Amino acid sequence: MASDSTTPPHPRARASIAAHSPFEASEVFGSEAVSRIAKTLPFFERTYAKIRFSILRPKLLSVMDLLLPDSGRILDVGCGFGLFAAYFGQTQPNRHIVGIDPDARRVKLAQHVSDELGLGHRFIAGDVRDAPLEGPFDAAYVLDVMHHIPAADQRGVIERMRDLLVPGGTLLIKDITTDPHYGLVFTELLDRAMVGWNEPLAYRHHHAWGEMLDGLGFKVRIVRVPDVLPYPHVVIAATRA
Ligand SMILES: C[S@@+](CC[C@H](N)C(=O)[O-])C[C@H]1O[C@@H](n2cnc3c(N)ncnc32)[C@H](O)[C@@H]1O
Repeated sequence: MASDSTTPPHPRARASIAAHSPFEASEVFGSEAVSRIAKTLPFFERTYAKIRFSILRPKLLSVMDLLLPDSGRILDVGCGFGLFAAYFGQTQPNRHIVGIDPDARRVKLAQHVSDELGLGHRFIAGDVRDAPLEGPFDAAYVLDVMHHIPAADQRGVIERMRDLLVPGGTLLIKDITTDPHYGLVFTELLDRAMVGWNEPLAYRHHHAWGEMLDGLGFKVRIVRVPDVLPYPHVVIAATRA
């Protein structure tokens, strides 16, 4: 029987069709991208990477991947070891990512990961509040970083990112909201295991982030993403007017 566009493909044909479609991600769940990243890292950081990718699992990563532009200059604020720059750079190789983080050791490893994978990203050691950053950027993303910035400085950081974006550019924030309270307590205990008890952690309810971004001229959309663990994940896509 001749096949036309309305004929469903034979089940055995689906894999090869998906692999050759220009529209679909080249692999499901990004597991090959993650494993390539892990292989470039020393033992401790590799373990951390596996934990981090099990927290920001495919459900979250796919949402964020689609919200970011597929090319152009993208700023990764609080890039850490550059795990997500390496992920988003593999899913869309025309993304030119600049990462910034005050931890010079992490920045060095982030550069190493990018160089090993041939991604061409650039990483800078510095604080997003005052480090020299040359815009404009087509997008910026901030993954689990805003609550590490003191509450009094958060608005200024968002204002700075807005001014670094092109008109219509996207600011993507992934953070933890404060509701439900047990979810916040669960997350804070894990954060404390990483940063200790002295660093101030400044979480906000996602409505408060929405109002702040709106007041700074962004068009805002927010989704809460459920998890098997009680992390109250929230993803905020803010578009600069
Ligand atoms: C929980 S880690 C997240 C790292 C990375 N975004 C990820 O998702 O794996 C928080 C990161 O924010 C960075 N950070 C904290 N304060 C910052 C600031 N003022 N400017 C830039 N980065 C900052 C920390 O050094 C740390 O690497």
